[in-house]
Amino acid sequence: MNRRQFLKLGGVTGGAVFLGGVWRMGGRSASAQSGTVPTVDHLALTTVVDNFYDAFARSAKLDTINVQRTVLPHGRPLLAEHGLAYHLESMRGQERREILLDFGYRMATLTNNYAALKLEPTKADALIISHGHIDHFGGLPDFALVTQGRWKPGLTLYAGGEDTFCHRVVMNPSGGAQDYGELNRAGLEGSGFRVALAKQPTVVAGHALTSGQIARTTDFEQSPPAARLVAGPIDSACAATHFGATKVEAKPGELVFDTFQGEHATAYHVKDRGLVVITSCGHAGVINSTRQVQKATGIQKIHAIVGGFHLAVATDEIVAKTVAAFKDINPDYIIPMHCTGLNTIIATHREMPKKLVMPSTGTRVIFGA
Ligand SMILES: [Fe+2]
Repeated sequence: MNRRQFLKLGGVTGGAVFLGGVWRMGGRSASAQSGTVPTVDHLALTTVVDNFYDAFARSAKLDTINVQRTVLPHGRPLLAEHGLAYHLESMRGQERREILLDFGYRMATLTNNYAALKLEPTKADALIISHGHIDHFGGLPDFALVTQGRWKPGLTLYAGGEDTFCHRVVMNPSGGAQDYGELNRAGLEGSGFRVALAKQPTVVAGHALTSGQIARTTDFEQSPPAARLVAGPIDSACAATHFGATKVEAKPGELVFDTFQGEHATAYHVKDRGLVVITSCGHAGVINSTRQVQKATGIQKIHAIVGGFHLAVATDEIVAKTVAAFKDINPDYIIPMHCTGLNTIIATHREMPKKLVMPSTGTRVIFGA
């Protein structure tokens, strides 16, 4: 694929594709397109939903970030659940943008916490869904229905690929299959949203970046072995041939290994700080995700790595290799959430105590000025 074809491919996905540094596709290199990576002056990242809520977590001004905790609001406590949702507010000069990234498991949790945090989600300039697991999209379909007509016209939801809208299950140790949901694209479009597939790195709302589909470059980050996709009909968006590099012949309804081909990370380039990378659930690997954003932008400096790192069930060896890679990348801060696991949080604290910021639902981290 040459550069022209690559840009054309990006163009039909609905976002502005950016290329930084040198991007290699199919063994060929595409030259850099300078000046397309937006730099924001300020980013306020609010964790709307996470697995944890710690009423005793303390606010703190650290070296280059401000961590603001939310004490229990009177009459409307914050709810925690197995899920993740963010509100992202950025400033670029006088230009303000708000983006919603992921939507928790249940609408009741999502709407309770938006209200408790005094956020108005329908002011959003764009929506991003990281991947097709229900603990990230679960709150969205019903919320889109009850808020229909209140959003900005033409509001776009950015997904990383067709497989975001395929049926997921996770195998239990007992051999049973746990339903992980199926996000209905037509339903969202019926609620008034535009859906864009950002398979390549894409600028969102002029301020944020999505990683595009994430190259697997490490030898220790593997897709969770229990994750499965339900194959759809041949020629449908969920036919097995769409499940990335996994070339399988599967009949509709059969379960195939999930490689999370369409999972993407979100990032901001913050002035005088560097990149803030948000992994969401990190099935593609937190290190792969971070390296992908570095390569796509041509920017090496990582200010913070934020999100679920999906290492809760990882071996000690994989945790050690991940933390060693953190030390090599040398971010200013690591904010592990959701599916990261206590094992990795403890190892990060042991190796890089001053870089670790503990998660809690309702936490707002201010990056930049
Ligand atoms: Fe998750």
